[in-house]
Amino acid sequence: MSKPKIRTGIIGAGFAANFHIEAARRVHGADVDVIGVHARTDASSQKFAATHGVAAFPDLDSLLDKIDVLHVCIPPALHEEVAVKALERDVFAVVEKPLTGYFGDGAADFDGRTASMTEARTGALDSIGRMLAAEASSKGRILYAENWVYAPTIQKEREILEKTKGQILWMHGEEAHSGSHAPSYGHWNLAGGGSMIGKGCHPLTAALYLKGVEGRARFGKPIRPATVTARTHALTQLPEFVDTGHIRADYKDIEDFAMTHVTFQDGTIATVFASDIVLGGVHNWLEVCAGNHRTICNLNPSNQMQTYNPVESQFDDIYVVEKIGTKQGWAMTAPDEDFSHGFPQEIEAFYRAVAHDEDVESNSMLAADCISTIYSGYVSAANGGMEEAITLL
Ligand SMILES: NC(=O)c1ccc[n+]([C@@H]2O[C@H](COP(=O)([O-])OP(=O)(O)OC[C@H]3O[C@@H](n4cnc5c(N)ncnc54)[C@H](O)[C@@H]3O)[C@@H](O)[C@H]2O)c1
Repeated sequence: MSKPKIRTGIIGAGFAANFHIEAARRVHGADVDVIGVHARTDASSQKFAATHGVAAFPDLDSLLDKIDVLHVCIPPALHEEVAVKALERDVFAVVEKPLTGYFGDGAADFDGRTASMTEARTGALDSIGRMLAAEASSKGRILYAENWVYAPTIQKEREILEKTKGQILWMHGEEAHSGSHAPSYGHWNLAGGGSMIGKGCHPLTAALYLKGVEGRARFGKPIRPATVTARTHALTQLPEFVDTGHIRADYKDIEDFAMTHVTFQDGTIATVFASDIVLGGVHNWLEVCAGNHRTICNLNPSNQMQTYNPVESQFDDIYVVEKIGTKQGWAMTAPDEDFSHGFPQEIEAFYRAVAHDEDVESNSMLAADCISTIYSGYVSAANGGMEEAITLL
């Protein structure tokens, strides 16, 4: 049987664009034809196009004319505008995390550290509202690229919850490393915040997703978030911070540590840590404490493979694990990091959704709950951790 042919395009030619195109090319459930790319400069479009054997487009409109699916792999401040444009043309929008947010008031001297977080929340909710409205009147859909939802550990826990009808009482998790290197990270007006949104969105969305799974398994509808308490800190900006050069410390106006504590509609809880101050490689995990079982999801590192390397230079051209500071000595080497993080499974699921009109697990409602929780979290943090209600759109 021939597979449905889907024409696809990518906006952005950086880190995310590269792993998106690689995953799109490995899709089995549809015949994906990657038509082309558009990035900020012609030079970067052409370089990416040449590397991947696709066409370079000088503008987004001419790319949208030729495709069914657009991968939105550009800085978060541009997600809304580009995704809405795609949806208006009935093109499906695979939108990288975070879905959207609040990116300042446009003033050149905007400073996320002193900005009103109430205004930030209103701005973020308005942005989500516009995206959901564009989706509702489109034949396309928002496919929210939260890879944690598709990580094998999280999907195994989904199976456990569905089959045992367990009740999750508490989840706790973390995404952390020693600092993002994307040029846009560190600037609130480009990233929409710091570690709480940039990293915390991953374990938070996984927790929101699993509580949704539990609700659907037990009584047919998701259990959604209700309130949030959060604290944020800019540890590398403290006058007392001792800079040894191992942790990135040049952020402009964002937090580099966040603790986000969520209560769900049924009173149960999740606590998520996100930071840019943790050495030793990426630290991505989620623990589920249910009434009938307990699960630890180690996305990365995991001890599936461990290597001991006595001489650093031996591993010069060997990828070990994300953000590891040294390859010498023992390491939790990742044999297939993309798979453990759920990237290929996510893109496969998205193309099945497009080709066969299947539902997606990481959809716009999950993304909206995540963004709404995070910006109520920023309001809470601005008020010293006071509990804040979460608006459900
Ligand atoms: N899921 C994950 O684990 C993960 C990892 C990394 C990045 N991301 C997300 O992917 C997105 C992109 O991040 P990145 O790391 O690839 O950034 P990057 O800086 O490596 O690349 C950004 C790209 O956007 C392009 N761009 C910027 N402005 C543009 C415009 N106006 N029109 C067209 N192209 C434009 C640039 O040319 C560049 O190619 C972000 O939303 C980020 O949060 C997700």
